[in-house]
Amino acid sequence: MKTSRERFGSRFTVIMAMAGSAVGLGNIWRFPYIVGEYGGAAFVLVYCIACFILALPIFFAETIIGRRSGSDTFGAMHKLAPGTNWKWLGLLTVISPMIVLGYYSVVGGWSVAYLFRSAAFYFTTSTATEVTAFFPRFISSTWAPLAAHTLFIALTTGVILGGVKNGIEKFTKYTMPLLFLLIVIIAVYSISLPGAQAGVAYLLKPDFSKLNAQVIAAAMGQAFFSLSLGVGTILTYASYIRKEENLLASGIGTGISDLLFALLAGLAIMPAVFAAGIAPGTGPGLVFETLPFIFNKMGAGLPLISGVMAFFFFFSVLMAALTSSISLMEVGVAYLSEEKGMKRRNATLAVALFTWTVGILCSLSFGPLAQVQLLGNSIFDFMDKLCSNWLMPIGGLLFTIFAGWKMSRADVQDEFTNGGRYNRRMFGVIYFLIRYFAPVGIIVVFFSNLLL
Ligand code: TRP
Repeated sequence: MKTSRERFGSRFTVIMAMAGSAVGLGNIWRFPYIVGEYGGAAFVLVYCIACFILALPIFFAETIIGRRSGSDTFGAMHKLAPGTNWKWLGLLTVISPMIVLGYYSVVGGWSVAYLFRSAAFYFTTSTATEVTAFFPRFISSTWAPLAAHTLFIALTTGVILGGVKNGIEKFTKYTMPLLFLLIVIIAVYSISLPGAQAGVAYLLKPDFSKLNAQVIAAAMGQAFFSLSLGVGTILTYASYIRKEENLLASGIGTGISDLLFALLAGLAIMPAVFAAGIAPGTGPGLVFETLPFIFNKMGAGLPLISGVMAFFFFFSVLMAALTSSISLMEVGVAYLSEEKGMKRRNATLAVALFTWTVGILCSLSFGPLAQVQLLGNSIFDFMDKLCSNWLMPIGGLLFTIFAGWKMSRADVQDEFTNGGRYNRRMFGVIYFLIRYFAPVGIIVVFFSNLLL
């Protein structure tokens, strides 16, 4: 039988670990450029609503399943629905986070490379032309991004080798507060730049004429990705939450941290973009192409402070990425060690090796393997679309159906309210959202991703 499992020590560390998973490249890289593409504050507003009524209920479905079973994703299905086809959901969500981690760690690797560059004050001491040319040259080269990717996987592996308490809990407990502090400092700097007000207004003053179905679907998809849903990371972390902990409070704490961080990242980036006179809708290159250019431009006046801000910024990107990548790695590690009886160390190395290999292919697809097409996409884009458009919504949908329809209402209620101790009044609302609203919402996102 299984040995007793590690648990997170307190509500604070539960929230830090879960917020660590949620806050990541999704907030600091993806959120700002999506806001830019979909026209600013109206998108932000829909996003806030989507976080609470769509993403959080799915988050609760995963936490209820995770803590009820106290198992990895496969074990959870086995314990709560023995001998049924739900085991395939367990298996799917062992594999999908490993694929997500494969391409996530390529972008994580970019942040490693940018951190080194900013530590050498590269972005503030080179010419604007050099800085602008850096990104395309870097990602399409062969060895440098591979080395950075390898380092990123190694850092992730190092934390996971430490275990739940000494690895994940310790790392996120210190990193997350630091991350918030840094992003606040950068946002204050950014807002203080001349001409920054237009960027603040862009984020906070909604122009409702920009709302349409596509914007709403994009906001829901972003909320989904940002809260790490659908691939079993939240389920696995929830299996480490103590029985006496209040799930509603932990979930709200996580959701608010994630939302707040996205808004702060927006305030760190958009005002600077406007101050530099750049259009906000430049797409995925916003953080890696546009920002270094902005640091360079600002650096012409105040090279030291601009260089330090660049360093803080890319340090934050890397830390945010790491606290997420560890949650992605933990899913497979929990599975291999609990279901397959592997030693934690060997399980970690196995998952690391697999994701490293997937990542190598993704990384090379910007350079030497650029010609390789999978269904009309580069390898990297294929993995991203496979996960974001298919695996995450399917996983999320099945988790809500499992918690809403397969588990008994009494069990779900018992877990969510700690046997009637907490949240009795909120339960009805949350249960309704899990059973009806969330599955329909996911289907809407799913089809709009296919059609748009
Ligand atoms: N939510 C993280 C981010 O915003 C990324 C992430 C971690 C994730 N685990 C996930 C995304 C699981 C989807 C599914 O960067």
